[in-house]
Amino acid sequence: MASQFSVAVIVGSLRRESFSLKIAKALTKLAPSSLKLDVITLNELSFYNQDLEATPPADWVSFRDRIRKADAVLFVTPEYNRSVPGVLKNAIDVGSRPYGQSVFNGKPGGVISNSPGAIGGFGANHHLRQSLVFLNVPVLQQPEAYVGGIGDAFDEKGELVKASLREFLEAYIKAFAAWVAQQKK
Ligand code: FNR
Repeated sequence: MASQFSVAVIVGSLRRESFSLKIAKALTKLAPSSLKLDVITLNELSFYNQDLEATPPADWVSFRDRIRKADAVLFVTPEYNRSVPGVLKNAIDVGSRPYGQSVFNGKPGGVISNSPGAIGGFGANHHLRQSLVFLNVPVLQQPEAYVGGIGDAFDEKGELVKASLREFLEAYIKAFAAWVAQQKK
């Protein structure tokens, strides 16, 4: 049997009707069978505080465990003020510590940013990539995923109805699967 790789899909928005969350869920249906996607929301993750490392909060421990178990990480995020939403940066900080024990280290990654606007979260996408360099996460370079005009992509049940986006996400997750397989060789 061909290998199957698990992917932690980290969602950068806490919003119930988040487009980022809807994209993450759509990806679980579009992914090839070589990937198993675990969608991780950050609603329960508390703020990083180095003082707590001696006895880390249970929510940090379970978040770190979930990422540690994954073969790869895929970030799906909106852009806040041309950068990464605070909740996502916090998750990166929580997963990166204690020093020398980052759960992200060496895992192949991907970044999908999105926005109702035209620029597709370019600023968030690249600020996130800056942290991923330091975290030693080799990130898929092409295709880049700056998903603009997300506002009309889903119906009221949260189903992806925009054919052009379905096609793009299908191509993206296929390329991501090939990237993960190549990195895990
Ligand atoms: C935004 N939004 C936004 N959009 C964008 O394209 N560039 C930006 O810099 C910002 N900045 C920003 C800041 C804050 C605090 C909020 C609340 C929103 C709009 C944003 O793209 C929109 O609200 C998305 O729907 C948020 O993503 P989710 O929650 O749908 O995943």
